[in-house]
Amino acid sequence: MDLETLKKLDNAFLFQNYGRQDLAFTHGRGEFLYDETGKEYLDMVAGIAVNSLGHSHPAMTATICDQASRLVHVSNLYRIKEQAELAEALVEVSPEGLDRALFVNSGAEANEAALKLAVRHTGRGKVIAVDNSFHGRTAAALKITAQSKYQEGFGCLMGEFADYVPLNDTESLKGAFDKDTAAMIIEPIQGEGGVRPCSEEFFRTARDLCDEKGALLISDEVQTGMGRTGEWFGFQHYGVVPDIISLAKGMGGGFPIGCILSSDDVSKTFSPGTHGTTFGGSPLASAVALAVIHVIESEGLVKSAAVKGEAMMNGLKKLIGDEVTEVRGAGLMIGMEMKTKAQALQGHALEKGVLINVCAGNVVRMVPPLNVSQSSLDKVSDIFNDFMEKI
Ligand SMILES: Cc1ncc(COP(=O)(O)O)c(C=O)c1O
Repeated sequence: MDLETLKKLDNAFLFQNYGRQDLAFTHGRGEFLYDETGKEYLDMVAGIAVNSLGHSHPAMTATICDQASRLVHVSNLYRIKEQAELAEALVEVSPEGLDRALFVNSGAEANEAALKLAVRHTGRGKVIAVDNSFHGRTAAALKITAQSKYQEGFGCLMGEFADYVPLNDTESLKGAFDKDTAAMIIEPIQGEGGVRPCSEEFFRTARDLCDEKGALLISDEVQTGMGRTGEWFGFQHYGVVPDIISLAKGMGGGFPIGCILSSDDVSKTFSPGTHGTTFGGSPLASAVALAVIHVIESEGLVKSAAVKGEAMMNGLKKLIGDEVTEVRGAGLMIGMEMKTKAQALQGHALEKGVLINVCAGNVVRMVPPLNVSQSSLDKVSDIFNDFMEKI
């Protein structure tokens, strides 16, 4: 189907709730996507930190075909081998204290589960979130998404359970906890908020205050998890372990799956019937996510994300000047803040066959597949250099 026909179909039948670019892809391989004319695009967006192994990775394709030919879905009324094996693999790559998994289907759902677990476990009703955060679009996840543009018009669906503190403001954090605080939720690096890293002091203070006040620390690893930042999980940059983490996005490499991990003790709060979901941890989704972990491990992608990301960021930092104000992130989660020309750079990159994403108004975000080649990253740097020279 040509692009014009697709646009007509989209405009006629789909909710118009996405600001879509006029681009459509027919297939992908590795870090490249292709449109119907055969044009190649280097994909530095990766479905927004989702396609962790790129497109059509042979291990994912083989697992999907093999598992789909045997068993796609059975209810969580029964024991599911693939789900149990995936839980074991996740616990194995996690530090002690993250000992059990509960599977869901998306990041928002993982955060809803994390919040329910925290309030039920503590018997308290308040949650502290960080200004400018993004935790998803379902009701409770939206309430802790501290950005009015997402919440506007939905107030009646959200409870009054959240307090917000500025990112990296340790003093405000100290004043925010009280006897009703069930949990604090933090993104180790804010993604949608503009690739803004949480400081070590802030994260560790949150850990200390949660311990002191009997609250739970939730690390939202939906975007930062599964090797993206050069560690398996973003919180590992801070040397402390949260009580609950939420995962989704890169976990299934493009196949929808999410989960929470917690300690054995905290997990016991969810007794049979207290929480669940029909599709969570289906044999197919679990088998694919397990294959993704195996590839990340066997190809050393966590370490390589750290090395490649650091080199790329060091290169981009040389562009800091009149237009580029800051380069930040960790591993292959990189943000380059610009004064006014982020959209123009996005257009320029597209002309050169590179997909990048602009978030939080003026931040160029790059979250490529973890197995992106060095030559592709060099190409992006060259294109950025070229753009800066032109303006
Ligand atoms: C940190 C974080 N948490 C939660 C979500 C929501 O995930 P989903 O869109 O899968 O519901 C996102 C999505 O961008 C995210 O970046």
